[in-house]
Amino acid sequence: MKNAKRIFFIISLLTFAKLLSAQDNIIILQPGKAQTTISKHLYGHFAEHLGHCIYEGIWVGENSTIPNVRGIRTDVVSALRDMGIPNLRWPGGCFADEYHWKNGIGPRDKRPTMINTNWGGVTEDNSFGTNEFLDLCEQLGCEPVITGNVGSGSVEEMSQWVEYVNSDNISPMTDLRKANGHEKAWKVKFWGIGNESWGCGGAMSPEFYFDQLMRYSNFARDYGDNRLFRVAVGPNVDDYNWTETMMRLWSKKSWWEQRLMNGLSLHYYTLCHGWGDKGSATVFTEKDWFSTLKNTCRIDELINKHLAIMDKYDPEHRVGLVVDEWGNWFDVEPGTNPGFLFQQNTLRDAIVAGINLNTFNNHADRIAMANIAQMVNVLQSMILTKKEQMVLTPTYYVFRMFKVHQGATLIPVTVSCRDYTVDGESVPSINVSASKDVSGKIHVTLVNLDPNAENPVNVNLGLNQNVSVTGEVITSKNMNDYNDFGQAPKVTSAKFDKFKVGNGQLNVTMPSKSIVCLEITPK
Ligand code: AHR
Repeated sequence: MKNAKRIFFIISLLTFAKLLSAQDNIIILQPGKAQTTISKHLYGHFAEHLGHCIYEGIWVGENSTIPNVRGIRTDVVSALRDMGIPNLRWPGGCFADEYHWKNGIGPRDKRPTMINTNWGGVTEDNSFGTNEFLDLCEQLGCEPVITGNVGSGSVEEMSQWVEYVNSDNISPMTDLRKANGHEKAWKVKFWGIGNESWGCGGAMSPEFYFDQLMRYSNFARDYGDNRLFRVAVGPNVDDYNWTETMMRLWSKKSWWEQRLMNGLSLHYYTLCHGWGDKGSATVFTEKDWFSTLKNTCRIDELINKHLAIMDKYDPEHRVGLVVDEWGNWFDVEPGTNPGFLFQQNTLRDAIVAGINLNTFNNHADRIAMANIAQMVNVLQSMILTKKEQMVLTPTYYVFRMFKVHQGATLIPVTVSCRDYTVDGESVPSINVSASKDVSGKIHVTLVNLDPNAENPVNVNLGLNQNVSVTGEVITSKNMNDYNDFGQAPKVTSAKFDKFKVGNGQLNVTMPSKSIVCLEITPK
């Protein structure tokens, strides 16, 4: 038996070596080395009081003619549940550091208003507050992630917010919660200590912010058996000095104090060319396609470099990386409020989502959470709404396709592939990750960045048993196709069968500009 296995292995290797010379896209899976769980929280989302994300996108109020449960849209909730939403970050973003939570509780007609100075200067009537957000999370079946106000709030205010949502003791804050109709604590676990404190959250230096973090985190108490996961504000893009300073100061603290920082955030938005030239979300050339994809691929380098700094000060990996804002940021749709950040979503966004999710999977050992910006009607959304209508974007279909990785075990992969080149600049044409779920099924998600050519890919499964394979694909005729209101979706997912399987190998023909998920079931 042992000999038979050996012979089978040698034959597979020889076949593989032959293929190596014949094909240029080779992926090798190592299922035997799978050990890291891909946290479901890498598939997280973000909803800010910004434009029509909360109001109209989620909250329509109990008296709306749009079907709702306690004011929350049923169509949006049902689509997000189907997609597999593990967590939701709220209330900001920049809005979080101007938000005073007590204005958003109690009878809605008595709640004070405020000006949303960050986003369009509109009046915020606070009708969607803490109770409504936690109701939304319950309806979605996801974990809440609350970002507290460090920039313009107080330590006492944040401390009382945690007590309001998490304490089951007898106290003024828990009395307030009960008076607002919620007897039991919600047990919120994930708590952000400010947002972008280097910028809109207070323009602080890392040294100053670190001291604030210690104060605010210390008084954001653990109640009962609930242990907060406290997310500190981390770097913007490649601000390695911020990471270095935060981690150096953290490493000097006692073991007890170090528990006040469980995660360090990273924000990285993909721009087409730069902040001065974000470009249209729907009208673009192949050059724009290429530069957007090249810029998004940079996430891997950023993660590696920030993690190298973190590891230097935290060899035991007690602090996780939290990529709690990522995604495409283009110009707003013509004719919409520039402060509302409403953009359409094309096949290019789907490709960007696939690349980022594969990258997060491949770093599952160190990334604790990631949240795309944002869930509805803002930046790279899952869903767009117009009154009672709802559109599922290409990005939505990618998240739904990739949900098979949530909680699965990461399979290490090695990739050797041809480049996709435009004007002398190149990116790898194939992007991939793989995992094994509890039932033993393997899922491989592949992205072909090339908008012009099919890409033959050979996948060595690393198995010496027969398998059955099924596939799903997301692609479309044009790279700027999108789904619009009142029209049949152009970019959606479909069955995929352009592969051949045999001898532990899978030969896949990736359509141009596509995302494919293969489900491999050992027999
Ligand atoms: O997502 C939009 C904004 O981008 C967020 O409010 C802020 O944190 C970031 O700059």
